[in-house]
Amino acid sequence: MERTLILVKPDGVQRGLTGEIIGRFEQRGLKMVGMKFMQMSPALAEEHYGVHKERPFYNSLVEYIISGPIVAMVWEGKDAIAAARSTMGATNPVAAAPGTIRGDLGMEIGRNLVHGSDSPENAVKEVNLFFNADELVDWARTTDSWIRE
Ligand code: RTP
Ligand code: MG
Repeated sequence: MERTLILVKPDGVQRGLTGEIIGRFEQRGLKMVGMKFMQMSPALAEEHYGVHKERPFYNSLVEYIISGPIVAMVWEGKDAIAAARSTMGATNPVAAAPGTIRGDLGMEIGRNLVHGSDSPENAVKEVNLFFNADELVDWARTTDSWIRE
């Protein structure tokens, strides 16, 4: 089983799309194991997006992600990272396929609604950055046998 960190970014929360976005992952068959409503501190944003520090969009990215509350979640499943990223769609919503979160709900790369971890190593790092172990719930979902062979 793999886990991935998903954020509903401030535009998603402000636009009232939190439920819609959560629903996409839920309907896909991923299992939620953690969730919190919070506002990221500049320090957390700089750590989370540290990999982009040298990129021209870094400052606006940090400003955007701390500009309002977010919903941070951990979702679990087989190939959860790839499944979540395909449900999210391409980074630029204009290029994202219809049916994906970004392709259905977004218009600009700087307002792309959602974050998802991009590798197993980064997923572990990001989950630990946002959640303590006791904030994650191990639970058996009664529908699992209808979602996985
Ligand atoms: P994320 O990390 O948020 O899940 O998005 P991603 O993997 O699809 O994209 P990534 O390359 O990691 O970029 C992180 C976020 O930076 C913003 N961005 N802006 N203006 C630009 O050219 C540009 N490129 C990236 C986006 O908000 C992207 O989600
Ligand atoms: Mg990324």
